[in-house]
Amino acid sequence: MSNTQRTADPCVMVIFGATGDLTKRKLFPALYNLAKEKFLPENFAIIGVGRQELEIADFRNKIIADLKEFIGGAPDEKMLEWFEQRIYYTGGDFDDDKKLFKDIKALLGEVCAAHRIPENYFYYLATPPQLFANVAGKIDKNGLGKEENGKWRRFIFEKPFGRDIESAKKLNYELGEILTEKQIYRIDHYLGKETVQNILVFRFGNSIFEPIWNRNFIDHVQITVAEKLGVESRGGYYDTAGALRDMIPNHIFQLITLTAMEPPVSFEADAVRDEQSKILHAIQPFAPEDVLHKAVRGQYGAGDIDEKNLAAYRSEEQVNPQSNTETFAALKLSIDNWRWAGVPFYIRTGKRLPAKRTDITIQFKKAPLLLFRDTSVEKLTTNRLVIHVQPDEGITLHFGAKVPGPIVNMGEVDMDFNYVDHFGEQISTGYERLLYDCMTGDATLFQRADMVEASWQIVSPILDVWQAIPARDFPNYESGGWGPADADELLNRDGRRWKNTLD
Ligand code: BG6
Repeated sequence: MSNTQRTADPCVMVIFGATGDLTKRKLFPALYNLAKEKFLPENFAIIGVGRQELEIADFRNKIIADLKEFIGGAPDEKMLEWFEQRIYYTGGDFDDDKKLFKDIKALLGEVCAAHRIPENYFYYLATPPQLFANVAGKIDKNGLGKEENGKWRRFIFEKPFGRDIESAKKLNYELGEILTEKQIYRIDHYLGKETVQNILVFRFGNSIFEPIWNRNFIDHVQITVAEKLGVESRGGYYDTAGALRDMIPNHIFQLITLTAMEPPVSFEADAVRDEQSKILHAIQPFAPEDVLHKAVRGQYGAGDIDEKNLAAYRSEEQVNPQSNTETFAALKLSIDNWRWAGVPFYIRTGKRLPAKRTDITIQFKKAPLLLFRDTSVEKLTTNRLVIHVQPDEGITLHFGAKVPGPIVNMGEVDMDFNYVDHFGEQISTGYERLLYDCMTGDATLFQRADMVEASWQIVSPILDVWQAIPARDFPNYESGGWGPADADELLNRDGRRWKNTLD
């Protein structure tokens, strides 16, 4: 990770899946924001590749119209013009070796000549994972994949990276036959979020937190990734994936590794990823019998959110009406190392919960009760540090204070840091940093092959048990509730409870 600002290298970005949702909602707005902040070079162009046959002029019109809708603010006309001149398109069948990839090659030649770009290419595969190796292979076969004569070739692969340990290993192997690991950027958009990156700065850029960041002072850690939305139009994908696959081995494990890792020897990509990887290897895998009492699954039924009555998951579009897919998952994880032995990490994620909220709660141990034994204080407030990842990014420290008055009474108070109050509103899609890092060759915020495999290794036993024993009680939580009762029980059993605040 670098702290110097420089314009990205001149390059062409080739987006496979260019007519899809991700491209219009995230990728182009992110590129626009980067251009506005002068992070993109003059010698830059984008080639969209999709299945549809489209004229370049039509694609340009569509992208400019989408940009106006999704950049979140008044568009800068000059900037739009700058973009328009740099957008190209070619369409066809991704399986067709003969035509599409020859067209891409010819277009890359033209675009490089027109914009004086020295043949640095970066490919963004916003396609289903089944196509990753196929597309990368065809790019390579057409002489567009090897890094030669100082020209770089990088590949970003969208999530999901496989659907279990076997498919992830196979994909890593297949890509490894075509590309070097240095060329592969496995993206996880949670690492593009400011607050997620701030975990490292917070922990290692301050001296006061690290000495207490361990089992001597921390009782447990909770991570909640709650969404109000249901599966929306993605029922087809989601019904084959489920909450665990969709959110845990990727997004939530990123949050865990950054929260739990040891200080890296530097902020070089591999130094940081080595430490993250050690955490993933230290998470104790579940034996089949552990799944029954350390993992909870749920599926939403009908219910109300924001006074709107919402349908059950099984009635969603493209979802099997008898579906056994979970839309909620909670786990109790143990990290088997010196720092974290005995400190449970409780994680949960779900759709159709009462709030859109991602946060990490570090719950510190109680103070010894001696001093207050003879006072009216029943329960001492414990200290809690909450890292709010979204929507209101910030950090809150909760602690006890004396309520003014003649008797000793204790109340809980907060110390709050809010990003927007301090740094102002930043318009960001979360993809800016990741695209920029790929263009400057910094892989720190991307997943290495061993990390992806270690993550799948942890969740695979759970997926296996859940598949072998279908849930009998689905749907088991109402839309608008905090998930199934068993998820509460997971903590209650240990004398703890989830922090279910709505803000
Ligand atoms: C995606 C999942 O990776 O992350 C979605 O596939 C989920 O199901 C989304 O809604 C959540 O991302 P964010 O940034 O809105 O928390």
